[in-house]
Amino acid sequence: MGFFHAGNMSFVISLIPVVTMVAMFFILNGSMKIADSIACMLYIDILVGPMFQLIELFEQIQESIAGYQRFLEILEIKPEIVDSANAIELKKVAGDVSFENVSFHYNKSEKNILTELNLHIKAGEYVALIGSSGIGKSTLCSLIPRFYEVQSGKIAIDGVDIREIKIKNLRDNIGFVQQDVYLFSGTIRENIRYGKENATEEEIIAAAKNAMMHDFIVNFSDGYDTNIGQRGLKLSGGQKQRLAIARVFLKNPGILIFDEATSSLDVESERCVQRSLEKLAINRTTIVIAHRLSTIKKAKRILVLTQNGIAEDGTHDELISKNGVYAELYKLL
Ligand SMILES: Nc1ncnc2c1ncn2[C@@H]1O[C@H](COP(=O)(O)OP(=O)(O)O)[C@@H](O)[C@H]1O
Ligand SMILES: [Mg+2]
Repeated sequence: MGFFHAGNMSFVISLIPVVTMVAMFFILNGSMKIADSIACMLYIDILVGPMFQLIELFEQIQESIAGYQRFLEILEIKPEIVDSANAIELKKVAGDVSFENVSFHYNKSEKNILTELNLHIKAGEYVALIGSSGIGKSTLCSLIPRFYEVQSGKIAIDGVDIREIKIKNLRDNIGFVQQDVYLFSGTIRENIRYGKENATEEEIIAAAKNAMMHDFIVNFSDGYDTNIGQRGLKLSGGQKQRLAIARVFLKNPGILIFDEATSSLDVESERCVQRSLEKLAINRTTIVIAHRLSTIKKAKRILVLTQNGIAEDGTHDELISKNGVYAELYKLL
């Protein structure tokens, strides 16, 4: 099969004038009639097309085999973060989250993103996390579902170290809404159901209503059966966000993390997403990484992340009167 690659195609092309010259030689030599040689060249002409097709086909087969081998290699990669031997399942999560002396870095060669960070968020609290870009807000939040492992210190949910909780159970109890919503090609119903595999039709519709997307869904001619193309191209940014919120309603987790999810939306869709978020936040611990003042001011507790950890912690009025980092950031917003 090695013969059939692009380099050999030019080899085949270079054979054509050679064959033509050989035919000419036989004609001049008198051993071949002109009619025969024309027929011979016509046959060659007929043969060349299918030969190229065959070469292309073999090339595709070779590429597919290479792709399949790569796919198998990826399947064999073992996840770095796995359940500990005695991992437990939390039945009902109240949503108390605590960071105790947590230090974290992505690469050994680079400096810590978080150093000995301490933070306690009580069950049911709604906090806004702010700080300059690249300071580590997303990183801090991604440590809670254990997307990365802390190097030292401990993160606990309801007092239980997250390393002692089964990863699936841990992640089932955390709703994460990010700017980039993961959508797959399929119907709107299937995409919402991604939040809870065995959700009933009633549950899906209730979640869509809570996420304020039911009305626009039923306006599509196929309703919940509408196929959203690859990467959800047919939905607007705000609609995608509401779909992500609908999934979290279905999942019904005790902890909700909203990572700058509305930063790319226009004001109108943001307002809509904001309203459904507020509904979703009721009775859950909610951490919102926010950039808009309206969202930040609404939070009863604002956390300011700096290189020195959570540098300020309090209400808008408290932090303004402190005249520190928040007051400085507030001027910029
Ligand atoms: N997966 C990653 N691997 C390596 N470095 C990362 C990764 N994600 C973020 N970082 C780096 O960590 C720092 C904090 O990033 P991030 O938590 O996204 O900040 P924020 O959300 O506050 O803007 C940045 O310097 C960023 O480049
Ligand atoms: Mg971020």
